[in-house]
Formats: sequence, C-alpha cells, structure tokens
Amino acid sequence: MPASLADLQAREEARFAETHPRSRELAERAKASLFEGMPMHWMRKWPGGFPVFVREAKGARFVDVDGIEYVDFCLGDTGAMSGHAPEPTLRAIAEQAAKGLTLMLPSEDALWVSQELTRRFGVSSWQFALTATDANRFSIRLARHVTDRHKVLVFNWCYHGTVDESFATLVDGRVEARQGNLGPPVNPAETTRVVEFNDVEALERALAYEDVAVVLAEPALTNIGIVHPEPGFHERLRELTRRHGTLLAIDETHTICCGLGGFTAANGLEPDIVTIGKTIAGGIPAAAYGFSAELAGRLAGTIELGEIDVGGIGGTLAGNALSLAATRATLGEVLTEAAYARMIPLAERWTDGVESAIADVGLPWHVTRLGCRAEYLFSAARPRNGAEAHAAGDAALERYMHLFALNRGILLTPFHNMALMSPATTEADVDRHTEVFREAVLELGV
Ligand SMILES: Cc1ncc(COP(=O)(O)O)c(C=O)c1O
Repeated sequence: MPASLADLQAREEARFAETHPRSRELAERAKASLFEGMPMHWMRKWPGGFPVFVREAKGARFVDVDGIEYVDFCLGDTGAMSGHAPEPTLRAIAEQAAKGLTLMLPSEDALWVSQELTRRFGVSSWQFALTATDANRFSIRLARHVTDRHKVLVFNWCYHGTVDESFATLVDGRVEARQGNLGPPVNPAETTRVVEFNDVEALERALAYEDVAVVLAEPALTNIGIVHPEPGFHERLRELTRRHGTLLAIDETHTICCGLGGFTAANGLEPDIVTIGKTIAGGIPAAAYGFSAELAGRLAGTIELGEIDVGGIGGTLAGNALSLAATRATLGEVLTEAAYARMIPLAERWTDGVESAIADVGLPWHVTRLGCRAEYLFSAARPRNGAEAHAAGDAALERYMHLFALNRGILLTPFHNMALMSPATTEADVDRHTEVFREAVLELGV
C-alpha cells in the first residue's frame, strides 16, 4: 500500500495545483510579506502544498478564489460550528458596531450571556476572554492563586490551546516537553503532571502528592481523535479531585458539540470551572470561564484592587461590547436546542455512511462520534487514551484522505479526520462526503 499511496498522493497534488491557480498564485505572492507565506504558521499543514484562499463563506459552504465551492466540515475547527455568517449574529454585529465596539465598560449583554452560560453549564460566576487559550490560562492562574499550589494536571495528548503547562506528554511514564514545543519557558515536568485519560489509578497516584492546583480536562478527548471517557471515569475524577483539594476545570471548547451545555450538562458533571471559546460568538473572538458558587466564594475579596489590572489575568478587549452582542445572538438564536436536534442526527448519518464504506472495503478502521462531531481513525480498536489514539495516527494516509476530499469539494479539519455539523449542514452535504470517502477508500483497497 505505501508505494501506491505515494502515487495516489502525487496524482492528487498535481490535480490540486492545476485546479487552484489563483490560490497558488496568492500563496506564492504571500511569501514576500508573510512569514513562510502564511498568516498563521500552522496553515502550512493544509494538504496540497498551499492552502485554498477563501473568497466567501455562508452556512456550511465556502467558495475559494478559484470559484470552487466546498462543503465545510472543518468549520474553522469549531470556530464556525454555528455555520458561517449566521443571520442573527450578523444582525447583532451590525447593530452593535454602529453603537461602539469596545469601551472597557460593561454592556447589558454581559448579564444576558452570563445567565445563559449558567443555565447551560451550571457554574454561576463568569468572566470573559477572547480566546479559549486565555480562558484556560486565566483559570489556571486563579486555581494556583486560590489553592496556593503550583502544579497542573492534564491528560496525555490533550490540547487546550497555547497553554504552556499543557504541552507535556508521557514518555516511558515520565513527563517530557511535547515534541515540537517551541521555546518552553521551563521544562513542563516542573509545572505539570500528566496521566493517561481513563487511567484512574495513575490519576489517584498523581493527585495524592497534593500539589496539583487544578486538573484541566476535556471531558472527552477531541484533539487526538475522539476518546470517550469510560463509565465511571468522571465520577472518580470528581471524587479524587475533591478528596485531594484539587480544582476541576472542564474545557468545553470542542465538547459544546454534545448539546446546549456541552458534555457537562449532558452528563451531569460538577466542575469547579468551565472554560469555553471558539464558536460561542459565531466566529467573532469571544471566550468565557465560569466558577462554581463555592469557588467564586473562595476567590471573592482575594484580588487586591490596587494591582487588579496587572495580576496576569486580563485582555484589553476582553468582554468587549461586540463580542458580547455576537455571543448573545449566537447562543440565543443560532446554537439552540432545535439546532442540535438537526446537527446530532447529521453526525449520526455521517458516521453510518463512513462506517458502511469502511465495512464494505474491509479496512481495519473505525468511526467515533461525539454529539455533532465525528471522526474516523486508522485502527480497528477504539483507543482508551491519548497514547493509543496517537499510535493509531498515520500522517501520510491522513494527508491523502484530506486532499482527496478537498479535490472533490469537501473540507475536513487539517488535524486528524474530523467532521463537524453546523445548523446549516444538510443531509445532501453528508451524503456527498460519504460518496467521496467511499471513492477514496475503494482506491486504497486492501
Ligand atoms: C479543547 C480546546 N481548548 C482550547 C483551545 C484553544 O482555542 P483557541 O485557539 O481559540 O484559543 C482549543 C483549540 O483547538 C481546543 O481544542
């Protein structure tokens, strides 16, 4: 298979270059003024040698500068899970833009948004940021502050944004800087304990040191393929964190795919902190982090007014009027109960389609779904943790599958094989993906 995969890849790259002359030209010109020719360094990761440049996007589709239309299952890696340019969000943006964008003063929307976040996630005391990374960073700082402990515990192969403490992996049971970690401020072994997801015994051992301020966790891993928690795992995680005086922060940035209140509400979790970003404002930068009433009580009065603006938690534009207006509209009118009632069955349809193609061809792959997110992985067995999921990765195969799809008008995320449904995605979009996927795997054969 590897030799023919290389041939197939070469064929797809030639087709991509030929059919995207305008994107290719822009990518060439960009080298003069953008570092390595990209506005964001990781955009180099898109398959095909250069990314498609986008002309416009609406709903679940976008059109590139060569006039080619795509079904978008990447949806800005969740930033556009609401669908591109949803009408209620656009209206709110236009109205708010005419009335001022940022003031460093609260707008009334802050109240509505925080009440809605409480209704969805349970925790009752909210702050705003502009990115999920910042929401996580600030939560970690506050957790250290209130517990007077310095370590953070994360699960192996997690991703929580560009949070220094989270770029650590387990190598032969030791904590080491994650491969590719650029200029870590200190060796992450000093700041971080790492355990495998679903490994309750290791979690218990790590928390028993009683030096962990906070466990920062996605409730199901979504950034190394999807790894579900095993039955009882979250109960044990909560029980152990409470027993050892460690706070529990649940990062719902991706798992908002599970429903209105993410995995937390769907499964009755009781975190001390919830963090979320990306899609909540329909693509306008906005993020939030909320504390339980108990934690808010512990924090209250501990932050000195004189130094409140230089304590490491901030962001001049955080909580700005535009972000909050867009969040209100997106949560209130776009990512609604009715939207999830469409999106989740679409992900089930996507899963069924991909599963049937895998079965027909006899490939040792499987599909996992979490709410309106689904993903295929190149292994027969479902991974129990990050290490197993990482071991099932195959970069060459992934690039081929992505490029094959892209050449036929389908965009997957640039990282692993994920598809996300928006309220604007249709059954026909899903069926088109199944058709293209089937074609790709038939060519690969076994
Ligand atoms: C679970 C999770 N948390 C946080 C982040 C960081 O989001 P951002 O890059 O918007 O800060 C990501 C990004 O992929 C994520 O997957």
